[in-house]
Parts: sequence; C-alpha cells; structure tokens
Amino acid sequence: MVAASVVPAIRRARHVVVMTGAGTSAESGVPTFREAQTGLWSQYDPLQLATPEAFEENAALVWDWYVWRRNKVLAAEPNAGHLALAELESLVPRLTLITQNVDGLHQRAGSPHVIELHGSLLRARCFERGHLAATWPACVPQNPPRCDVCGGRMRPDVVWFHESLPTAALQEAEQAVLAADLFFSIGTSSVVYPAAGLGMLASERGATVIEINPSATPLTPHADHVLHEPSGRVLPDIIACLRDPPGSAESRR
Ligand code: APR
Repeated sequence: MVAASVVPAIRRARHVVVMTGAGTSAESGVPTFREAQTGLWSQYDPLQLATPEAFEENAALVWDWYVWRRNKVLAAEPNAGHLALAELESLVPRLTLITQNVDGLHQRAGSPHVIELHGSLLRARCFERGHLAATWPACVPQNPPRCDVCGGRMRPDVVWFHESLPTAALQEAEQAVLAADLFFSIGTSSVVYPAAGLGMLASERGATVIEINPSATPLTPHADHVLHEPSGRVLPDIIACLRDPPGSAESRR
C-alpha cells in the first residue's frame, strides 16, 4: 500500500502543515477553476471574469457567475479526502490546514480551523468598502445586490487575479510553515504564487515534504515523498495506517 510509505514520517512529525488545492475537491465533483466553464459560461474565460476589472466592466455578469459557482459548490459534498484530513487533526500533535480552495468543503468535513488563502465563495463583501455580509445576499432584480452598510456593490469574498491575498491568512500560513516539520501538498498544481511558494519554503527549511497529486508539478522534484494518487483514495489509506499501532501498518505493503 503506497500510503504506508509516508506513515513513519507522519508518526515522527510534531507539527504537520497541509496545503490543498482544487484537486482535493475534484472527487466531490467540484471542477477546478479552469474546468468550471460549462453551459452558458463555456463562452467565457474564467481569467476574464475573476478580476476587479471584469467586475467594474460588468458587475452583474461577474456576480451571476459566482452565484452559479456557489450553487454548484453548495450541491457538492466533502469527499473521503476532506474527511480524512479532518480526522488527521486528532492523529498528530499539531496540524495547520491551509487551502487555496474557496468551496468551504474542509469546514463542512469537520476541519476546525482552515486558513483560506483565496477567500471563500460562501461569503460576500461589498466591492467599494469591504463590508462583509452576515449572510449571502438575497437575489434581487438589481444585480449585484447592494451592501446593507454603505450601499456598495456586493462581490464574492474571494481573491481575484491582480488582487493581493488576505495579509493575515498569508502571514498565519507562512508562520505555520516556518514551524512545521512535515508539509503535505495535496491537489495543487503549485504554480500560483504566493501559495505555491509555501511548499518550497517548507522544503528549504528542511521539513519533510509529501506531495499527493496524480500529475507532476514544479514541487515534485523537491518532495521527499510523491504519491501519484487521487487524494480521495490515498488519504483514507494513510489514516487507516495511522490508526493501526506503530509497526503493524508499515508492514502492510
Ligand atoms: N487528487 C489530487 N490531485 C488532483 C486530483 C485528485 N483527485 N485531481 C486533480 N488533481 C490535481 C491536478 O493534477 C492539478 O495539479 O490538482 C491540481 C489542480 O490544479 P489547479 O486546477 O491549478 O488548482 P490549484 O493548484 O488549486 O490552483 C491554484 O489558481 O486557479 C487558480 O485561484 C485559483 O486557487 C486556484 C489557484
């Protein structure tokens, strides 16, 4: 069993940092950012929609796209990989979960604290002043809905291209990586910075790096263990091994 190969490193770890990307949600049926364009939206390039400029040019169109993406995410369920990561929390001394995903599936799987580097589709804030809405705004004829506080145009609370990541989230993620002795990179192409830099930082700091991805990425050459497996399959296997007494799982091949 390929999962057994990483169990000794996990058992030795004092602080595990996990960073996930869109591949972690693939088995929940949530398409990755670039795969998402179907039906009406297939005529649009997501890179032309997920920007402040696109919102300024056609706020109603961008808002409608996010309403569509949010509904797809709400219809999805956490997969076995999300659930395994939530259980991993109780099997290691300390775990920090960082995600680039905006789908909220880690939280729905039971992970208690998720650092959302790219925000969340499940929240909305106003474009003009950043006022966060307590709940997702009701659909109104005037698209996008208006902010209850300042009357500004509502937008999803996600990081768009050409925007900076939330400072507090990025700093918390970097601090965790600096303190980690084991770093999991799961389901990410490791090409979008600054998130992609966290795996390299972990490697440079001497942490053990484990990558789970059916494909190779720029991080692969720097990883100590590479599992070319779907996360929804191999993460439950890892948890099963960790639940066994030390030594028994490692003999499982
Ligand atoms: N298990 C693990 N990995 C998988 C699986 C799976 N079942 N299915 C696909 N993958 C891998 C793919 O091989 C790919 O390397 O997941 C990765 C997804 O890469 P991207 O679509 O680029 O997603 P991500 O790395 O999260 O992108 C980072 O860029 O698209 C923008 O803002 C968006 O947050 C996103 C950021």
